[in-house]
Amino acid sequence: MSFEKTCTLNTGATLRQIGLGTWLSKPKEVENAVEIAVRNGYRHLDLAMIYQNQDEVGAALKKVIPSVVKREDLFLTSKCWNSSHQPDLVGKELDETLKQLGVEYLDLYLVHWPVAFAPGRGFHPLHPTLQDEVELDDKTSLVDTWKAMIALPKSKARFFVRAIGVSNFTIEHLEGIIKATGVVPAANQIEAHPLLPQSDLVAYCREKGIHITAYSPLGNNLIGKPKLTDDPTVIDIAKKLNATPAQVLIAWGAYRGYSVIPKSVQEERIISNFKQIELSEEDYKAVTALAKDGHTRYNIPVAFKPKWNINLFNEEVEKTAAHNVNIV
Ligand SMILES: NC(=O)c1ccc[n+]([C@@H]2O[C@H](COP(=O)([O-])OP(=O)(O)OC[C@H]3O[C@@H](n4cnc5c(N)ncnc54)[C@H](OP(=O)(O)O)[C@@H]3O)[C@@H](O)[C@H]2O)c1
Repeated sequence: MSFEKTCTLNTGATLRQIGLGTWLSKPKEVENAVEIAVRNGYRHLDLAMIYQNQDEVGAALKKVIPSVVKREDLFLTSKCWNSSHQPDLVGKELDETLKQLGVEYLDLYLVHWPVAFAPGRGFHPLHPTLQDEVELDDKTSLVDTWKAMIALPKSKARFFVRAIGVSNFTIEHLEGIIKATGVVPAANQIEAHPLLPQSDLVAYCREKGIHITAYSPLGNNLIGKPKLTDDPTVIDIAKKLNATPAQVLIAWGAYRGYSVIPKSVQEERIISNFKQIELSEEDYKAVTALAKDGHTRYNIPVAFKPKWNINLFNEEVEKTAAHNVNIV
């Protein structure tokens, strides 16, 4: 069975539960992937300046708007990169994103990480460092950046951004920006899969009306562990349901009531990932039980190259980091 569920933001806007991720989708690959996705029913696309492929996404959008889909029927999310957290840069980077995509507005704009980099220094403006370690900006707080995000929709004659949110924020980070501004983010995009269910954060966001989008739902494995799509339990359930292991993992996220953004650049996978299946409670519990095999967070910036020397999530490996998040 294939059906297309939607989720609703605290702004009243709706988005499809399954979207297309675009991180690590190379130029040419991503243009093709986005076109295939939209032609096959995807309406929710997850983008970001740091993916350095938004111009290719823009080229694909030109091919499908308006011949396949109207702009207003798409839900486009993009994200403000860490080197534009300084309040005077937030709007400038948004302008650049809109230009790259060739659209007049975004449906959702997120603060990509709760980390400010020094702006525009070093060999690459997105990674301002010449060293093994990124140069951080300890002076710009999350609240400074969040206030600049809040001002975006109001700062121009038209609505360039329909909703604002965050990504990779913990409960503590969310509490800090909400307490200081009274403005609740529409969404928090976080890593979530059976090895990192983040149940406390999911429950907190549900209570506050913050929509969760789960990234790396297939457990995008950049650290050499076995892939979640190769897990025997996931494979068994997939066989039983005549589904793919990826569909089971996507359905696990959907069962929890949030949106899920699997990435693929392969036509067959793009199409099959979008075919939504439903898990029984028993199958949901069996996949949830994989957590006992070991808590795994794939995206820990202190382990990135270049390293971000900051403790974001209080994971063991982050405890000796030299910086903490400047919340207020
Ligand atoms: N906010 C953030 O900080 C953040 C961080 C990470 C990711 N994200 C977003 O979330 C999206 C998804 O996360 P992700 O890319 O890390 O990981 P993911 O979607 O969990 O996994 C992607 C990997 O799985 C493969 N794959 C896709 N469909 C498959 C299938 N049906 N069977 C087996 N393998 C399959 C892909 O390869 P092929 O392409 O070759 O199919 C790719 O290697 C990203 O693209 C990005 O948009 C956001």
